[in-house]
Amino acid sequence: MSAKKSQNPDVLPQHIAIIMDGNGRWARANGRIRHAGHRAGVKATRNIVEAAAERGVKALTLFAFSSENWNRPREEVTSLMRLFLEVLQREVDALDKNNIQVKFVGARNELPERLQKHLAAAEKKTATNTGMQLILAVAYGGRWDILQSVKAVATKVEQQQLKAADIDENAIASNLSLAGMAPPDLLIRTGGEHRVSNFLLWDIAYSELYFTDTLWPDFCDQDLDLAIDFFRSRERRFGRTGEQVRVSADG
Ligand code: IPE
Ligand code: IPE
Ligand code: MG
Repeated sequence: MSAKKSQNPDVLPQHIAIIMDGNGRWARANGRIRHAGHRAGVKATRNIVEAAAERGVKALTLFAFSSENWNRPREEVTSLMRLFLEVLQREVDALDKNNIQVKFVGARNELPERLQKHLAAAEKKTATNTGMQLILAVAYGGRWDILQSVKAVATKVEQQQLKAADIDENAIASNLSLAGMAPPDLLIRTGGEHRVSNFLLWDIAYSELYFTDTLWPDFCDQDLDLAIDFFRSRERRFGRTGEQVRVSADG
């Protein structure tokens, strides 16, 4: 059966992950320098955080800077790090007031020390908030994530706390950055590319994938709603047959 009509009109993706791509092309299209594109991207980010929280999304994971983005020109990397710091300092109070719990995932030791400190402070300040969880992936790579989990598991084996034969999916999952969270239901990528670019690899095994040509600085509430509509039109089978899924949904 094709999944065009809304299967679940009321269901909201509990966890949305977004690859926020297209800032550079937005800048070029608007005759601006790349940095202006990143600044415009911040505005879109602020808006989408608010929109997702308003809609009742439980967790929003945003890809802000990948392991591979270190390979960009040094000036761009430096200005991005400055921008992260500036935005963090400016926005943390508002996020806190909105009861949002902020968390960072990624190789934080690779980040400038000042940024690391502010990241930790933002996490601490919002730790007990009970609203939407906002996870910012900075210096993050899906391979890095799996690798650091495997190292943690290997250490347990080395220390004889775990037998190699007993390593199961949970052993790996419980050491990943998103441990303890329900995996993303919906992964959105803006900017027209149909690839994952080393974002969450393990966690998106069963995410619904939504690609849009809209460049990140142009991504607005209506675009988020289109992505959510797409999600609602999908039948999630997790390997089972459509008949099985529909019987259990009716029962
Ligand atoms: C995404 O936009 C932001 C980061 C990766 C930091 P890009 O900077 O990749 O924008 P394009 O892909 O060049 O348009
Ligand atoms: C993915 O975008 C990373 C982020 C959005 C942070 P890229 O622009 O780095 O991805 P590629 O290089 O086009 O695959
Ligand atoms: Mg890009």
